[in-house]
Amino acid sequence: MEFLLQPGGQMRGTARVPGDKSISHRSIMLGAIADGITTVDGFLEGEDALSTLKAFQAMGVQIEGPENGRVVIHGVGRDGLKAPAGDLYVGNSGTSMRLLAGLLAGQNFDVTMTGDVSLSKRPMERVAAPLRAMGAVVETGEGGRPPLTLRGGSKLQGIDYVLPMASAQVKSCVLLAGLYAEGQTRTTEPAPTRDHSERMLRGFGYDVHVAGPVATLQGGGRLSAVHIDVPADISSAAFFMVAASICPNADLTLEHVGINPTRVGVINILRAMGGDITVFNEREVGGEPVADIRIRHAKLKGINIPEDQVPLAIDEFPVLFVAAACAEGRTVLTGAEELRVKESDRIQVMADGLQAMGISAVPTEDGIVIEGGQITGATVNSHHDHRIAMSFAVASLRATKTIRIQDCDNVATSFPNFVELAASLGMQIEQVDAESAS
Ligand code: S3P
Repeated sequence: MEFLLQPGGQMRGTARVPGDKSISHRSIMLGAIADGITTVDGFLEGEDALSTLKAFQAMGVQIEGPENGRVVIHGVGRDGLKAPAGDLYVGNSGTSMRLLAGLLAGQNFDVTMTGDVSLSKRPMERVAAPLRAMGAVVETGEGGRPPLTLRGGSKLQGIDYVLPMASAQVKSCVLLAGLYAEGQTRTTEPAPTRDHSERMLRGFGYDVHVAGPVATLQGGGRLSAVHIDVPADISSAAFFMVAASICPNADLTLEHVGINPTRVGVINILRAMGGDITVFNEREVGGEPVADIRIRHAKLKGINIPEDQVPLAIDEFPVLFVAAACAEGRTVLTGAEELRVKESDRIQVMADGLQAMGISAVPTEDGIVIEGGQITGATVNSHHDHRIAMSFAVASLRATKTIRIQDCDNVATSFPNFVELAASLGMQIEQVDAESAS
C-alpha cells in the first residue's frame, strides 16, 4: 500500500488521535498478571498493541475487545500464565518483544518470540544480557537478533542494573523480570526515559520507588486490577503538531493528549524552533498527565537540538526532521544514535527521503544536519516504518509537487486511521495500491 499526496493541503480543526501505544501495551501486560478484572478505555487498536493482546490470549488470558477502545482483561494472577501452544509472533513490535522478555523470563515454561522482517533485524542482546545476569536462560538468533527464546524454570535473582543506553524498553524489561525475582531489582538510567511502567505498576498497587534515575522494586508482590484510561498518543499527535506548525494558516487543536514529562520533547523542540503551541486544560487521568494542545502556523527556525531532549522525543525525530526541512537555517541533531536501531535506520531513511525531496540532509553517526529549504516532490520509500511514512506525508503540506510514499502498510501498527484523520483536517492524502500506483 502507498500514500499519494498532493501539495496545497490545510491543517485546521479539532481531533483526537488514537491511544498511547506504550500505555496500551503495558495495560495488557499488567492487567494479565493482576488479580481481578482490569478494564481499559482508549486502548490503541493498532497492530502493535494487538500483538501484545494476542500473546497473552495465547498464554491463556481471557481478554474481551478491543471494542471502541474498550478492553476487559481477566487477570490470571502473577503465576497464572500458561505455556502457549506455539511461538508468540509479535509482528513489528519491539515493545512487545522486549517487555515480554522480562515478564516471561521467570515463568515455568519455555517461550519463543518471533517478529516480522523489521523486528527480526533489531537488537535483543540489550534485554538478553541483563536477564541472563538475573539467572534467566535466554537464547537469541544470530547477532543477538530475534527469535528470542526464554527457557522456563529459572530462578531469578534481583539485580542492580545500570543501563548502558537510555531505553525505556530495557528498563521496563528488567523491572518486569524483577517482579518474579528474589529480592530487590534496581535500574539506573543514563537519562530520563518514559516512565509508564513505573507509574502503571504503582497504579496496580505495586510499590516502585523512584529517586532520580533509579527505580527500585521488590520481587514477589502481587498486582490488583484497576481501570486504565489511555490518553491519546503524543507520538501520534506529533505528526499533526509539525503539520500545523509548517502549514500556512493552520490552526489545530488536539484533544486529551498524554503529556507525561518523559514524552514532551516534541513540544519543547518545536517551541525552541519558534512553534506556536498552547497546552491547556491540563489534568491527570489515572496517574498520567493529559492536556489539549493548540498549534498554529509559525515561522520556524533551525536550532541545535539539546541532547537532553533526545530521549524525550525519541520517536518524534522523523517528523521533527520535516519541521527542520521547513525551517529557516540549519538544524543539527547529535546524541541520537538510537535512531539507527528503530523500526528502520531513521537517520539514513529520513536523509534519503528528504534529499529526494530537494532538501540538504546529511546523516552523521549519531544524528543529522538539515538545511531548511524548498520541499519539491518525490517518490520515497518508508522502509515499512510507520513513523517514516507519516512524516513524509506531513512534508506534502509544504511540497511543490506530488509525493508518493511506498510501503505504508505498517502505519496500522500505531495509527490505523491516519489517512482518514489527516484528510479530514485538510491534508491532500489518499491511499493507493502499490500495483495500480506503479
Ligand atoms: C518504548 C520505548 C522506546 C520507543 C518505543 C516505545 C516503550 O524504545 O522508541 O516506541 O514503550 O517503552 P527504546 O526503549 O528502545 O528507546
